[in-house]
Amino acid sequence: MKLEKKAVIFDLDGVLCHTDQFHYQAWKGLAGRLGVYFDEEINNRLRGVSRMASLDIILEGSGRSYTRAEKEALAAEKNEAYRELLKGMSPADAAAEVRETLEALRARGYLLAVGSSSRNAGFILERIGLEGFFDAVADGTEITRSKPDPEVFLLAARKLGVRPEDCAVVEDAGAGIEAAGAGGMTALALFGDARGCGLEDYDLNSFRELLELLP
Ligand code: BG6
Ligand code: MG
Repeated sequence: MKLEKKAVIFDLDGVLCHTDQFHYQAWKGLAGRLGVYFDEEINNRLRGVSRMASLDIILEGSGRSYTRAEKEALAAEKNEAYRELLKGMSPADAAAEVRETLEALRARGYLLAVGSSSRNAGFILERIGLEGFFDAVADGTEITRSKPDPEVFLLAARKLGVRPEDCAVVEDAGAGIEAAGAGGMTALALFGDARGCGLEDYDLNSFRELLELLP
């Protein structure tokens, strides 16, 4: 299959770099402290969704309700632990395969953007040495509805000045695949629960495989 696209919008966490493992560790620590069961399967439901929505999913297992203020404190506690893990990241955390593929897509004339639900996206891009690389970045600090709502991807397309149908989206989250489809974009699934979720247009076996789909 060959796609006719002008732009590629990349999810960040779990696609451009493996911060998904740090999200998991940080949530696992919080869940452990609260005595709430948490595993990889529950973690998969957190991919692509906002911090607060993730916390709500984790607290489903708590058997009690939390006030807004308590939830804000818990989300802040998780974010602090997560940011400590992010501080250990470096440009080595953006794989050579990722860098080379991005460079090759750019050389082919594609516009490249990030579309992430994360409010830490700017910090992560800085840590992995990709700040300033993309033609546009749309992240969790600029949206009110996180994936599966298409808001972040539509914002990225608007910033690039391209129509949604001219964009391909690369996602590791089922929620992100759903968002791309809802936004009228072509959804490419890589890793996570995106592959095989049933809503994707194509399952990628590797990041590099983008070069086969996008001539
Ligand atoms: C997404 C992650 O990219 O960002 C989710 O896949 C995460 O797991 C969400 O909850 C929000 O991230 P942050 O950094 O704002 O807590
Ligand atoms: Mg992701």
